[in-house]
Amino acid sequence: MSETILEVDNLHVRFPLPGGGVLGTGKRTLYAVSGVSFSLAKGECLSIVGESGCGKSTTALSIMGLQEPSEGTIRFRGKPIVGPGAPSRMARAKAAQMVFQDPYASLNPRQTVNASLLQPLKLHGITGSEASDRIAALLTSVGLTAEQGTRFPHEFSGGQRQRIGIARALILEPEIVVLDEPVSALDVSIRAQIINLLLDLQDEFGLSYVMISHDLSVVEHMSDRVLVMFFSQIVEQGGWKEIFENPQHPYTRRLIDAIPDPDAALRRAHKPTETATPPPPAGWRFGSDGSTQPNVFSPPEASELVDIGPDHKVRLLRD
Ligand SMILES: Nc1ncnc2c1ncn2[C@@H]1O[C@H](COP(=O)(O)OP(=O)(O)O)[C@@H](O)[C@H]1O
Ligand SMILES: [Mg+2]
Repeated sequence: MSETILEVDNLHVRFPLPGGGVLGTGKRTLYAVSGVSFSLAKGECLSIVGESGCGKSTTALSIMGLQEPSEGTIRFRGKPIVGPGAPSRMARAKAAQMVFQDPYASLNPRQTVNASLLQPLKLHGITGSEASDRIAALLTSVGLTAEQGTRFPHEFSGGQRQRIGIARALILEPEIVVLDEPVSALDVSIRAQIINLLLDLQDEFGLSYVMISHDLSVVEHMSDRVLVMFFSQIVEQGGWKEIFENPQHPYTRRLIDAIPDPDAALRRAHKPTETATPPPPAGWRFGSDGSTQPNVFSPPEASELVDIGPDHKVRLLRD
């Protein structure tokens, strides 16, 4: 067994919302993440999938130390990432980095690619030819040329910009990369290229990934393990084979049945059934766009996540 590098234990994130009630004085709480636990092994790709609004990005930001948990702990190599004994900001930057859906979020439009890759290196005391060699080598690894480093973000296509976003995440040689919908904003024709690049980079640098997507087909070819979120909770988690070939929760089945690729569908042992969308937890609802709408009054009732195999858990449905 490979070593565990990240442990998320009973993560809850609640957002207090201003004034509810007739007089606008009532307190309301939005339950964004409710009791999520998982661990990530070195070199592994763990995917988190589920509808928009179910709490994926909030989980990602918590791992990055950018969102304070309301409850629960997150440990990196056994050490809590916040609180006493937590790694420094610099150490955390080398532990985990994030790739966003929109690379513009992490790129300064007025900086050349070289300049935006140099900035984090400088903060870590790497300058001069060591820095420029590292930047040139990384640009090549992500499928760009060293010469393209002198250009600005707007001079690139969407796919190339995501390559720059990935380079920016990798420049400090982190162990974990959290990929939050890294291909969702890209043309379908470009998506496979970026997924393949991510797989190559994982090999080349021994990276561990937390891959987030609302679309199961995107993670099908890169996940070792899959965690399915539904209305802020995990409803099913397990190894790739268990999830794709033996899905148990109706929501997981629905996500798998929605994968368009017919060849992949044939290879899957799970035969599509007339899977109905499971009902949301009591009092919760779907948005008009199908997104999950967290309940702002009460936490989801804790039904049990039960072990149904060595690496397979599913949440029991209440009737
Ligand atoms: N800073 C915040 N303040 C209030 N609500 C938030 C905040 N961040 C996220 N939310 C809400 O938490 C829920 C989960 O959001 P998010 O984690 O972004 O979902 P996902 O990434 O799965 O689409 C959503 O209802 C979202 O509106
Ligand atoms: Mg999100």
